[in-house]
Amino acid sequence: MFKELKKGDNRLYQAARGTSDILPEEQPYWRYVEQAAADISRLYGYRRIDTPIFEDTGLFRRGTGEYTDIVQKETYTFDDRGGNSLTLKAEGTPPVCRAYIQHGLQNLPQPVKLYYISPIFRYDRPQAGRYRQHYQFGYEAIGDADPAIDAEVIDMAWRFYRSLGLARISLQLNSIGCRQCRPGYLSALTDYYNSYAGELCNDCKTRLEKNPLRLLDCKQPSCQRIAESAPKNTGYLCPECDEHFNKVQEYLGQMGTTFELNHRLVRGLDYYTRTVFEIQPDEEGGAQSALGGGGRYDDLIEELGGRPTPGIGFAAGIERIILNLKKEGVAVPATPGLQVLIAYLGDAARAEAIKLAAGLREAGISAVTTTGGKSLKAQMRQANSLEVRYTVIIGEDEVKDGTATLRDMANASQETLTIGEVAARLS
Ligand code: HAM
Repeated sequence: MFKELKKGDNRLYQAARGTSDILPEEQPYWRYVEQAAADISRLYGYRRIDTPIFEDTGLFRRGTGEYTDIVQKETYTFDDRGGNSLTLKAEGTPPVCRAYIQHGLQNLPQPVKLYYISPIFRYDRPQAGRYRQHYQFGYEAIGDADPAIDAEVIDMAWRFYRSLGLARISLQLNSIGCRQCRPGYLSALTDYYNSYAGELCNDCKTRLEKNPLRLLDCKQPSCQRIAESAPKNTGYLCPECDEHFNKVQEYLGQMGTTFELNHRLVRGLDYYTRTVFEIQPDEEGGAQSALGGGGRYDDLIEELGGRPTPGIGFAAGIERIILNLKKEGVAVPATPGLQVLIAYLGDAARAEAIKLAAGLREAGISAVTTTGGKSLKAQMRQANSLEVRYTVIIGEDEVKDGTATLRDMANASQETLTIGEVAARLS
């Protein structure tokens, strides 16, 4: 349904609910986080991958999981003009696994380490830190089951946040077992919850039927109390999963990465096996505020039609990182501003100004001329509001002499140069 356009209504169209414009003032935060993401990826040997914004709907149904909140309630799914059902990228992991299978990356030395920075679309209820389009920095290490890679992936996430300057965060860790041992745990969990069935919230009543693991991370206080005394997954791990989880903790200890065991951490996606982890800010608890999360997915590639291949990965929500950078008062480097404004008076000077601007840009100096025949005073005001470092003034006298006045805006000092000297002087 389209809105009717009424004349004079300049607020008719707004960014769709749950989406936002990233205005120039906000960009330094984004560049800062993206640079940190690229730097940490290089340090741990990850290479960039970009996958399309939409995929075959089946990829998320099979990959993310039919009974997850994401697939049940949050995907943006539509038919294209050819009648194919497509879904906007609802998370980054299934597309990367699809690409791994499609391009035969199992033939490369394993693990294949890939990272991405991508918009993600989820029809969520918008609130602070929760949007319908958000951005993730994510990475996946595919093709290695060794617990050492779990520890490395977790350590990388931790060091990423620390490198950004975030200090008030914690790392939560759990293991949710594998195909062999999880059924035993699920039946213990279901038995336990059945005795509280009457006290559960409506969502949890459905979870008890469809996805009992998710009972543990319900946000309702009454359900949280029940979850506290629920049987712990780690007590039901098979010897292989138990050994794997012990090794992950041992290696993290050796790397000096501090973590907290959290038996209620289960994550909201169906593909996880064994290790799961999240980075939480200290101030607010709960999955609502997770700064990032990830885990192992040893059955996912096979589920998507590839050869059985283990994998593990992580993704961070960039908007939530920026909210926390601001909360913690972390200063980010400013984007370099415009260096030079060229002010002029009269048509002959205007031609010189245009030529000079072109010459300065040629020399790598950012420069603009004013436009619209303003007074010198108005042009200087413009220079101030643009916060340029230098103003070059070309008036009628200067045109006659082939000179220009160079004004240093920091201390208001001026000097007269020939036009030909300006670029060299500024370089
Ligand atoms: P996820 O926990 O669904 O995991 O999302 C990762 C992070 O994205 C969250 O911790 C949060 O910071 C951010 N996030 C999620 N939803 C929103 C939203 N609606 N608005 C703002 N930020 C949000 C995944 O997507 C997995 N693919 C991670 C992974 C990679 N597991 C293995 N490899």
